[in-house]
Amino acid sequence: MKEIHYSDKEILVFKDVDGIADYAVRKWTEIAGKTVNKKGSFSVALSGGKTPATLFHKLAKENKLPWNRTHVFMVDERFVPYHDENNNYRMINEILMRHVDIPAKNIHPILTTVETPQASALKYERELNSFFSTRSGFDLMLLGIGDDGHTASLFPGTPSLKEKKHLAIAALPSGTIMSYRITMTFPIINNAENIMFMAAGNDKAPVIREVIEKEKSRLPAAMVRPGKCSPIFLLDKAAASLLSKKP
Ligand code: 6PG
Repeated sequence: MKEIHYSDKEILVFKDVDGIADYAVRKWTEIAGKTVNKKGSFSVALSGGKTPATLFHKLAKENKLPWNRTHVFMVDERFVPYHDENNNYRMINEILMRHVDIPAKNIHPILTTVETPQASALKYERELNSFFSTRSGFDLMLLGIGDDGHTASLFPGTPSLKEKKHLAIAALPSGTIMSYRITMTFPIINNAENIMFMAAGNDKAPVIREVIEKEKSRLPAAMVRPGKCSPIFLLDKAAASLLSKKP
């Protein structure tokens, strides 16, 4: 692993996604241990997509983690049935959740069985507000970055980027993606205690350069500016290949 220093971000470059996942397991373990000791529970929000799958497979074997004190939420969800191959929670449940000893009440999927995406977003926001009525913000949030610079389901140039009040909204992505998404918004993302981005592959290199190096980038991933931490970027060599600073 090699580190690249930027003022407000921690950039760690790994040989491949396996190296990213090994580091993320260690960081998750460190944060979960400290947080449970301090607060008695650990809250984490997980993104979907392909990149985190390796991490989820590794976490499924980490039976010494405090799963009974861990609360797992979803950063976003596609408004498709659970059994749809595009459902994020289905992927995370099959790879991770069903293999660890976490109480069912501690798993907080975004429901897609309700009649509309808007109803689902409202329901999820109520669940977030109730959970955070006695807590200050997510202890850890895992975010991905699309090759268009989106993160969560906050897509470039969409009204979702301007949401300042609601913690979860129904969003219709831009471009070719037509199915509704339910997504957390910047108010809750930027309130997290720890944020780890994970990105791998050459196709991410141009947006990684912009998000990390362009001062006033309007890409959604660049708008993640948490008040309580500097986001950590876990990148493979390909995704980091266009950065002007070399590890
Ligand atoms: C989703 C994710 C999304 C993802 C990025 C990167 O629902 O698709 O939440 O924000 O993190 O699209 O996805 P990959 O890891 O597959 O490149």
